[in-house]
Amino acid sequence: MRILRVRAPAAGLQGELTVPGDKSISHRAVILGALAEGETRITGCSTGRDFLHTAQALVAMGVRIDNLGEPDLLVHGVGLNGLTDPAEVLDLGNSGTGMRLLLGVLAGQGFAATLDGDESLRQRPMDRVAAPLAEMGIRVTGQGERCTPPVTVEGAKPQAITYHTPMASAQVKSAILLAGLYAQGTTVVVEPGPSRDHTERMLAAFGAEVNVDGLQVSLAGLPRLCGQEVAVPGDISAAAFLLVAGLLVPESRVTVCEVLLNPTRAALLDILERMGADIAVWNRRIVGGEERGDVTVRASELMATEVGGDEIPKMLDEVPILALAATQAEGRTVIRDAAELRVKESDRLATTTEMLRAFGAQVEEQPDGLIIEGPARLVAATVDSHHDHRIAMTAAVAGLIATGETVVEDTTCIHTSFPGFADSLGSLGAQVGTT
Ligand code: S3P
Repeated sequence: MRILRVRAPAAGLQGELTVPGDKSISHRAVILGALAEGETRITGCSTGRDFLHTAQALVAMGVRIDNLGEPDLLVHGVGLNGLTDPAEVLDLGNSGTGMRLLLGVLAGQGFAATLDGDESLRQRPMDRVAAPLAEMGIRVTGQGERCTPPVTVEGAKPQAITYHTPMASAQVKSAILLAGLYAQGTTVVVEPGPSRDHTERMLAAFGAEVNVDGLQVSLAGLPRLCGQEVAVPGDISAAAFLLVAGLLVPESRVTVCEVLLNPTRAALLDILERMGADIAVWNRRIVGGEERGDVTVRASELMATEVGGDEIPKMLDEVPILALAATQAEGRTVIRDAAELRVKESDRLATTTEMLRAFGAQVEEQPDGLIIEGPARLVAATVDSHHDHRIAMTAAVAGLIATGETVVEDTTCIHTSFPGFADSLGSLGAQVGTT
């Protein structure tokens, strides 16, 4: 169990740095690269454990990947029907994205496969994917009512469907679209809100016929996917921790370069600006179909805000770090419509509340959100990550503005998405020790 020890730095955080490649985009790139004909070169790819688990599952099904574990890698596509029966259970570790997206891919194979994961992934519901796949004629069996892992999917010939998802979930949407690759006719997904759109963007880039009309995505089945060059931008969900650290630690100025700015992902920046944050975005440009730019923050006085509705799916993974920012904002911040956070790597409404309260923050847990009264003076705490990387990193940033030494326990989970997190904070001048 790795422990992080954090203290408030003597001076502001200063520096310019990059973060690992976006986890969501890296997942799509390796999966579509595997299903395409020809080679897919991925640059700036995630090196986090979640991504590696997904890539290794593809390797177990006969896909060759050169330089796996490095940011620049080469996927030798096997074509839509080229995956082979894995000899063993596919271990997705902590990766909900990996499991849900692969369930969609496996729906169209000529074999059955079983997917499993760690203790946290074994708590996560797969019924949200099993239900639409059942409508497509594919059997997925898991544990209990919510179809938790281990799950077995019996690949066959999926039928095209039109499916209205009950929640705005990119993982569910993507699983249906990936199964739809194997269906004759058009598969349609209609969402109640705008979830991240990387799958539909990348499917189109690989040569599939995709139409997006508001919250509805249609995909023509049985396309020929062609290998591509994919340049992955920096993960905004990782950059978020460094940017909020730069806003909260007095006298800081932090720039994160090459950050993903896709509008379905970047709402945190809008919300922080609304709270009074000094944020500048430079070099905005589109590379490989995704917007990116360099983001500079300066330490700022923040005001409370209200967040809910369509903004939530556009900053879903950033709620814990936003909640920390809100503890330093003047007034009452209300976050609502965020019940989906209860089925993440931990129940993030509960774990964010517990963790921030340990620092002395005033946080009230609601059925679908959080109410935070600020500003609060934070005092150092010893906190547990609950095996959740985003809780661990939020706690470490809280330690930068608390009096005394903060201890964050069980932080190996940070490797799932941001392996160099402690070093990145250190390079900005933060005192972060690991034992
Ligand atoms: C992801 C989608 C989000 C997000 C997760 C990654 C993806 O989940 O929380 O970290 O890559 O599709 P849902 O949109 O499924 O809730």
